[in-house]
Amino acid sequence: MNDGFLSQAYSARDTASMRQLYDDWATTYEAELTKNGYATPGRCAVALAANMQDLTLPVLDFGCGTGLSGKALVAEGFTTLDGMDLSGDMLKGAESKGIYRTLKQIDGETPPDIVQGDYAAIAAIGVIGGGAAPIGVFDMLMDRLGSGGRMVLSFNDHALEDPENEGHMADWCASGRARVLFREHGDHIPGINLRSTVYVLERL
Ligand SMILES: C[S@@+](CC[C@H](N)C(=O)[O-])C[C@H]1O[C@@H](n2cnc3c(N)ncnc32)[C@H](O)[C@@H]1O
Repeated sequence: MNDGFLSQAYSARDTASMRQLYDDWATTYEAELTKNGYATPGRCAVALAANMQDLTLPVLDFGCGTGLSGKALVAEGFTTLDGMDLSGDMLKGAESKGIYRTLKQIDGETPPDIVQGDYAAIAAIGVIGGGAAPIGVFDMLMDRLGSGGRMVLSFNDHALEDPENEGHMADWCASGRARVLFREHGDHIPGINLRSTVYVLERL
């Protein structure tokens, strides 16, 4: 079952080797994830749609990859999506879907060019922790939401094993800067018996 890149995806790595992993994976990523029942994008999209009133407002799909997350958001009614990702080859897959208003490759080192309040919601679906982007990315994205902005994200079971990841979320809530609107543990990639927690947060 686990004969592709999934077996490599959850080891810690620096930004350059992360980009390399996803560049190498780009052409087979969707087939491998689909074969293994990748459920988190759909779960995140349903949860975000249930916690937003106007689905025409701009949403940033951060770490959009080949656009599976964007496709799930569009299926729930979101109409205005921008995508950003480290990997140019993953972005080619996103481009081919024709669902993004803009797509941008970022370097993962310098803060991306996002003005606070540009986006009514930011999605980081399968992107933070557990071998992917560091938890500092969560803080950076939360900082770029305006008051009332929504953040939908997932932590897979590997990310959940490190208390620092949920700890950052708890800090945002305990300090009155955010509140949790939705939280649910469920299927992530059933084919490798991996689950995830999906969260929708409101920036206060
Ligand atoms: C597991 S894929 C998820 C892609 C897409 N969201 C989906 O659900 O299919 C993780 C993506 O995050 C991107 N990524 C990892 N670290 C990143 C970072 N620091 N900044 C932006 N993108 C990053 C990778 O290039 C990859 O495309």
